[in-house]
Amino acid sequence: MLTVAVLISGTGSNLRALLEAAASSAFPARVIVVGADREASGLGHAEEFGIPSFVVPWRGADQREAWGEELDRQLEVWGPDLIVLSGLMRLLPAGVVARWSPRLINTHPAYLPEFPGAHAVRDAIAAGATRTGASVIVVDDGIDTGPILAQERVEIAPGDDESALHERIKPVERRLLIDVVRRVATGELNLDLTASV
Ligand code: GAR
Repeated sequence: MLTVAVLISGTGSNLRALLEAAASSAFPARVIVVGADREASGLGHAEEFGIPSFVVPWRGADQREAWGEELDRQLEVWGPDLIVLSGLMRLLPAGVVARWSPRLINTHPAYLPEFPGAHAVRDAIAAGATRTGASVIVVDDGIDTGPILAQERVEIAPGDDESALHERIKPVERRLLIDVVRRVATGELNLDLTASV
């Protein structure tokens, strides 16, 4: 059984979908811990599913290294087989990435390499794109530059605002994420073969 840690910053709707999938005895992975960089509302999903959680509060960019070391210590305690960044809106320090990648994956609300970064949905609309997408990637030492594990297109409807478009992208992200975790767990997808750091 593949053990998974999930890191979040926000509402954790993708986390919840993974928790629901993993609650089935047929699913080959288990979420063993949820971490956050703040008292994220999504931590409530972990509580509801009886999954332990921790918070390593973000204390500003000048404390990134110390924050990363503390996060790393927490993760080490749990020793997950896979770490999923599911809406963690922080760049991990290089040392943390080097330690866990390629067993460190990220969901992203765009069709990478289009629209990397923290405002992918807003950027796609601002660019006047007619379609964007969702991706699941391995985290490497760049910003959303790691090997792509799964991705799918999502059309941008005329009049879409950031929130409406993001709500249409998220169900696609969830489906891709659950499938990638399943494939890693069954050995269908070997993350070591994707290693780029
Ligand atoms: C998701 O769309 C995720 O891909 C995105 O934040 C959202 C979190 O939603 N992450 C990024 O943009 C990272 N660059 P959720 O908290 O409801 O799961």
